[in-house]
Amino acid sequence: MKLIGKGIASGKIILAGEHAVVYNQPAIAVPFFAAQIETLVTKAPVEHLIECDYYKGTLREAPTSINGLRTIILNVMDYLRKDTHPVNIDIISSLPSGSGLGSSASVSVSVVRALFDYFDCEINDSILYDLVETSERIYHLNPSGIDMRTIINSKPVWFENRDDIKVISSQLSGYIIVADSGIKGNTKEAVSEVRELIREDFEEINKKMESIGEAVRSIQTNLFSDRLREVGHSMTYIHNLLKSINVSNDTLDRLVDSALSAGALGAKLTGSGKGGCVIALAHDTVSSQKVAKAMETEGATQTWIYSLKGDI
Ligand code: MEV
Repeated sequence: MKLIGKGIASGKIILAGEHAVVYNQPAIAVPFFAAQIETLVTKAPVEHLIECDYYKGTLREAPTSINGLRTIILNVMDYLRKDTHPVNIDIISSLPSGSGLGSSASVSVSVVRALFDYFDCEINDSILYDLVETSERIYHLNPSGIDMRTIINSKPVWFENRDDIKVISSQLSGYIIVADSGIKGNTKEAVSEVRELIREDFEEINKKMESIGEAVRSIQTNLFSDRLREVGHSMTYIHNLLKSINVSNDTLDRLVDSALSAGALGAKLTGSGKGGCVIALAHDTVSSQKVAKAMETEGATQTWIYSLKGDI
């Protein structure tokens, strides 16, 4: 056992394919390193203690809103057979929650890594997946697994289903501008509303999911051949399809429009939508800054500029 255990995890950006990926269409996601979650584990005097943005106190009395976190901590302690060792878990986050950047999966990954580190135990990706999936199921309805897979891999991934995940390397010379709308999205709600739409009109909504899937395939081809304009066009096309299944809102649409008016090659919501972030694609740093400024003027609370070349 160490004096202090440490676990770090990035966020993720879904470039394309959110929602449709729940219905077996492909998606592309990249890790988001500009903000991260760091968890520190130390010895606690009597019982497990936790400190995070939402709560500070005993794990036993933690509110139900962090049930996923409580479950993952208890599962890890059980897995490591360390139930009788009280720990103090401190979660420090620069990744905004409810922003579509994968904060729930990122918290889980960093907590598991920190606990394994504290108890000086080796961890492999397959154990990490299994442990993190339990909490993702509590936070998200029927998660595709793309968030945790991207965060654990720390590389851009092509995700077709749980058994078909490939690490990819982008040749795209452009930049992605990520803009936080400041409105918190709720993945569980958004995913269950889409499920309801599919129940009501399977044919129509499934057609839209297939169209998203086709656009994702076209982005994949164009990522490798550095066709920025085509990638941008597909991104905006996907945004409009997501809008038509009600996972956008006026604020996100305004951010998308402001990015396009400022010269972005394409723009779309990212993640589950109904709040959270918008991403836009631009040629170079100068045009990225112009696009970021336009989205800030439109109300974005925070923006980040991200290169898409190589392993990212
Ligand atoms: C959430 O980051 C992405 C969704 O497609 C849900 C999922 O894949 O589990 C909306």
